[in-house]
Amino acid sequence: MPFALSRFPAHRPRRLRSGPAIRALVRETRLAPEDLIQPLFVHDGDGPDEPIPSMPGMFRHNLSSLVDRAGQAWEAGVPAVALFPKVADERKTLDGSAAWDDAGIVPQAVRALKAALPDLLVITDIALDPYSSLGQDGVVVDGRIDNDLTIQALVQQAACQARAGADIVAPSDMMDGRVGAIRGVLDEAGFHDTLILAYSAKFASVFYGPFRDALDSAPRGGTDKRTYQMDPANGDEALHEVAQDLAEGADMVMVKPGMPYLDLVWRVKETFGRPTAVYQVSGEYAMFKAAAAKGWLEERPAVLEGLLGFKRAGADAILTYYATDAARWIREIDAR
Ligand code: PBG
Repeated sequence: MPFALSRFPAHRPRRLRSGPAIRALVRETRLAPEDLIQPLFVHDGDGPDEPIPSMPGMFRHNLSSLVDRAGQAWEAGVPAVALFPKVADERKTLDGSAAWDDAGIVPQAVRALKAALPDLLVITDIALDPYSSLGQDGVVVDGRIDNDLTIQALVQQAACQARAGADIVAPSDMMDGRVGAIRGVLDEAGFHDTLILAYSAKFASVFYGPFRDALDSAPRGGTDKRTYQMDPANGDEALHEVAQDLAEGADMVMVKPGMPYLDLVWRVKETFGRPTAVYQVSGEYAMFKAAAAKGWLEERPAVLEGLLGFKRAGADAILTYYATDAARWIREIDAR
């Protein structure tokens, strides 16, 4: 006998990995369709859907195909969609005032979605960039974003979206004090039940590149987004932002982007124990798509492993362009 008995390992973790049944029994985390939120793009023209080259499989939809696409997400078990508008250049202004036009594309889309799919949660984005001729999330005055003037605009945008029937408004602008201001204006207008999902820890990330192609919203001067979005080097500051937003009345908070910021998903959930979302952003989607197209990664298992990682890190909800596909893949696997 090559080993003395005392040299046998006391623990043999591999026993718990020896077959599918025992692995399923001790599995700690599960990814389900209802964890996922499908972001969708809608354009404000009459034309057909427009493919987004840097986001294969994603389109700027027209209104009717948006409703069809949202219906597919709902059918797959995805409980929520997040809407992002592509606004024609002639409707973009310095103050982004199309953002609170009740006849604008987002209110129209919300009304159409709620009429067709009343139980699907509709999340709308609060920020001025799709409507700003400079591609900025706020109002630029003398080369700087004026925080408090921007808040005056954002509360109008929030009220407009709530009037249209949005279930959840999601400020992604990173202005200071916007969550409290939005909560106040919504409450005064009688929208106590409209939820706020705050993009609390939103970083100045290069991974937003494909999204800015989709919206044609790349910054065109005015200022640098790093004057409002967070420095990717900062984790403690992210917790401070989350604490502020919760104190101001956020119902849910978010970390964005996703995979490079998993530490913060964990820290936010551990520290506050509140509903925590994570956004797997456009650049992350583009990386999966590119590697899959090259045959360098197997798309389904790679994507599902990545999404499971968000859940293991503590995320309650995951915004991902893969939401509908992933929901279908999960159900196919469960059906086996
Ligand atoms: C802007 C906004 C951005 C995204 C969501 N809302 C881009 C930005 O801040 O420039 C990015 C989402 C993605 O990359 O998937 N308010």
